Amino acid sequence: MAGAVNVTGTTEEADVLSNDLVINMLQASYSTCCMVSEENKEIIVTPKDNGEVRWSALDPLDGSSNIDCLASIGTIFAIYKRVSDGEPTEEDALQPGNSMVCAGYALYGSATLVALSTGAGLNFFMLDPAIGEFILIERNVKIKPRGKIYSLNEGYAKFFHPSINEYLRHKKNPEDGSAPYGARYVGSMVSDVHRTIAYGGIFMYPANEKSPKGKLRLLYECNPIAFLIEQAGGLATTGTQRILDVQPETLHQRVPFVVGSPDDVNEYLSFVQKFS
Ligand code: AHM
Ligand code: MG
Repeated sequence: MAGAVNVTGTTEEADVLSNDLVINMLQASYSTCCMVSEENKEIIVTPKDNGEVRWSALDPLDGSSNIDCLASIGTIFAIYKRVSDGEPTEEDALQPGNSMVCAGYALYGSATLVALSTGAGLNFFMLDPAIGEFILIERNVKIKPRGKIYSLNEGYAKFFHPSINEYLRHKKNPEDGSAPYGARYVGSMVSDVHRTIAYGGIFMYPANEKSPKGKLRLLYECNPIAFLIEQAGGLATTGTQRILDVQPETLHQRVPFVVGSPDDVNEYLSFVQKFS
């Protein structure tokens, strides 16, 4: 209805509305000097004299293909301290994830939940609509060392690197007598990641021949989720590098993304090594 087209070419009204809402609230909060949003090609600079010391990277509504079918979707954000003194520029926003000071996501599921970390562990808050407040429901959340679920869009198998297909074959037909893994994929990263943190296992959006860097964006999708997963004791990698150590080069750059329980991610990395 809004008729606007975002940088990724989709037109969902809810995306546009969420973007406007989040940007307006952050700018009105007098705490954010600039923002990078999935929905805006350029950096969004807050008008001067707000005295802000922080900037944010956001995906205001992730999982857009699930909006019309009412499956769960989410909001993802990361917060950094600004490094420059003058007018914020794109260079300010191109900090690696390891300098993040806070990250979180909101999941609009059968309940509304916020996962939040300021670097001292991961906490879950649930919205209690009766009082309009988010209640701390789980403190210092930890992911299981190993799970029983793998999660990715296996429809792209034809275009995956052989190491990924070999890993998947092993998850479905283990030779060592262990039980095969279950498969789950919502297609909303926040839902898939939240399940991975809650139950353990692995979530991946690897590179494929059609998308040589995968699909997910480093600044406002992968980095905040990597920060939260690490705070819960999990791992987040491109397959060759820790996600939080990737030096961003452009605002909307993509990276291959593999996150989850440490033993599961390390097992995946052993398949990468075998093929390298
Ligand atoms: P979006 O930001 O346009 O919603 O795209 C990101 C979403 C993620 O939530 C999800 O993991 C992925 O796209 C699913 O992509 P695919 O349909 O290729 O499996
Ligand atoms: Mg997104």
